[in-house]
Amino acid sequence: MNWVYIKDFKEHIGEEITVKGWIYNKRKGGKIRFLLVRDGTGIVQCVMSKAELPEEEWGKFSILTQESSLEVNGKLRAEQRAPGGYELDVESINIVQIADGYPITPKEHGVDFLLDNRHLWLRSRRQHNIMLIRNEIAKAIRDYFYDNDFILIDTPLITGSIGETASTLFETKYYDFGTAYLAQTGQLYLEAACMAFGKVYGFGPSFRAEKSKTRRHLSEYWHIEGEIAFCDNNANIDLQEDLVVYILERVLEKCRPQLEAIDRDISALEKVKKPFYRFSYDETIKILQELGSDIKWGDDLGGGDETILTKQYDKPIFVMNYPVKAKAFYMKRNPDNPQTVLCSDLLAPEGYGEIIGASQREDDFDLLLQRIKEENLPEEAYDWYLDLRKYGSVPHSGFGLGLERTVTWICGLKHVRESIPFPRMLYRLYP
Ligand code: 4AD
Ligand code: MG
Repeated sequence: MNWVYIKDFKEHIGEEITVKGWIYNKRKGGKIRFLLVRDGTGIVQCVMSKAELPEEEWGKFSILTQESSLEVNGKLRAEQRAPGGYELDVESINIVQIADGYPITPKEHGVDFLLDNRHLWLRSRRQHNIMLIRNEIAKAIRDYFYDNDFILIDTPLITGSIGETASTLFETKYYDFGTAYLAQTGQLYLEAACMAFGKVYGFGPSFRAEKSKTRRHLSEYWHIEGEIAFCDNNANIDLQEDLVVYILERVLEKCRPQLEAIDRDISALEKVKKPFYRFSYDETIKILQELGSDIKWGDDLGGGDETILTKQYDKPIFVMNYPVKAKAFYMKRNPDNPQTVLCSDLLAPEGYGEIIGASQREDDFDLLLQRIKEENLPEEAYDWYLDLRKYGSVPHSGFGLGLERTVTWICGLKHVRESIPFPRMLYRLYP
């Protein structure tokens, strides 16, 4: 028989086909039995008729448990009333494996239970749809960079130089060199690469030992970073805006059924058009204080601040030029106000908050060395990075977008843990 995926049914109406998958659900109706079978690309209602089927085939209905694996042979029909718009009239069934009592049932489960069963939870419809949207977002990002002549540069995950801040490093023993770290960012290496290729990007995991339980933090997340030579902070912001609009347009074009299935308010996503809001850090502090935050000039925005701020706006907000002490060592001083740096955070609306961190990089050798010293970073680990300021230094800028934060926003999720197949968090290493 001809094995057909459910997503391709359109081209096979009236044919004898085989569907290979798992039992999603089943139900009885008079002399008819219904098997809901999922195959990873969709769900189809398979109809068993007592009158049409030999005794042995008919008997299989009662043996098949939730998530049992099987191959169903039958004739495909268009059926408006059936879920998905098709029905398969069963001719025979080949049982592959009868599943044990499946732990996830249609009743409500607590999130800890579901996370303990993440390896199975991924099969459920909502999780399935979220992963399809994640897949499309990742593809859109790769397409955007490829179509705009960025070169993909894979940066090391084990590194000797601290990329962001010493406070959230995972350490690992590294042969005779002592301690190495799991990379928090590929940025420093992308800076080297952009001096070789002009426009580069990275797409890989980053690691943060975040000892806090928030709905925004993972210990391991997927980080998309762009880096551009001869690019200032403003051009960098324009680029991020363009990328985020591109991602949303793609998701709205390709993933409407998935967004509807997870009850996302699509109209909120449709409002995300250029130009985004651009606020200075100073303005932002004033707005936050008016909204009741006790934030003071000099503080980084806390998660709570991002929530109250972005609930007020229907489009993403670039918050620009943070104080030096709130941000990483590599950011370039703002010539108009040396207390601040040339940087931006992009905050997603509806309470979501930061999805991108970005800046123009310090390109002056002496100023960068001074910042490395001020932060007590081990100078010898940064010789190579400082070299970039000795051999043809140029103004350059870049940004890092968190894939899970972006998926969480676009899908309208409450917590980042549902945006990644197997989340790593303070209290979770299993499964
Ligand atoms: O703001 P961050 O720390 O910036 C950097 O790492 C820069 N080196 C990026 C660059 O300029 N190339 O991280 C960038 C983004 C954040 O905006 C957020 O979306 C995500 O990475 N991120 C996290 N996502 C999930 N869990 C965490 N613990 C995250 N930490 C950062
Ligand atoms: Mg940040």
